[in-house]
Amino acid sequence: MDSNETHTNPISMPRIGDIAPNFEALTTKGKLNLHNYAKGQWLVLFSHPADFTPVCTTEMSAFALRKQEFSDLNTQLIGLSIDSIHSHIAWVQNVREKTGVYLDFPIIADLDMSVSKLYGMLQPNESETAAVRAVFFIDPELKVRLIMYYPLNVGRNMDEILRALKALQTSDAHKVAMPVDWQPGDPVIVPPPKTLEDLDARLADKEVDMVDFYLAKKSL
Ligand code: BEZ
Repeated sequence: MDSNETHTNPISMPRIGDIAPNFEALTTKGKLNLHNYAKGQWLVLFSHPADFTPVCTTEMSAFALRKQEFSDLNTQLIGLSIDSIHSHIAWVQNVREKTGVYLDFPIIADLDMSVSKLYGMLQPNESETAAVRAVFFIDPELKVRLIMYYPLNVGRNMDEILRALKALQTSDAHKVAMPVDWQPGDPVIVPPPKTLEDLDARLADKEVDMVDFYLAKKSL
């Protein structure tokens, strides 16, 4: 392999704005068809490299411990790794016995790597056999809204995953955008005016904090 080839692996992956590719898979909760499972809810689909590994155990436990926060945001969790269903079951039981944390969400057993390949979770220059730490945020219309990819050796940040989900939902609900480091409750960015009439309305609105016509914030 020459040095260029390592940079040109053609990885197919859904992109932001795409409809999440459908699949049917075996999980720790039985067979799952992605599009049927979603049913008007948000989905957070995430991969981990391998069962019985330390970083993955901390991440999966964190998802489990914060599952109620996701449910409160009308969001279902789906995990995935390139392991067998027997491995998943043994690992879930081991984590429950050793830590008391129950990984109570479907975990896809992607032994044939079909879902990992469909979602660009298999990134061969990182690992040819283990999925990277991907997170796909999928909205109730099945559209991919945000994607995170982390390498094998860095665990994800659960606060950031929940913050990003809240930012997407708040943006949808109020037709606004979120500034850097936005946290729920912080002011949000209102879209710039599209007409002179809109600008006059903006200038008269005491609730809008306007730095200039293109940068204005308000509290919700
Ligand atoms: C881990 O979860 O600890 C891990 C998994 C695969 C490679 C490196 C670390």
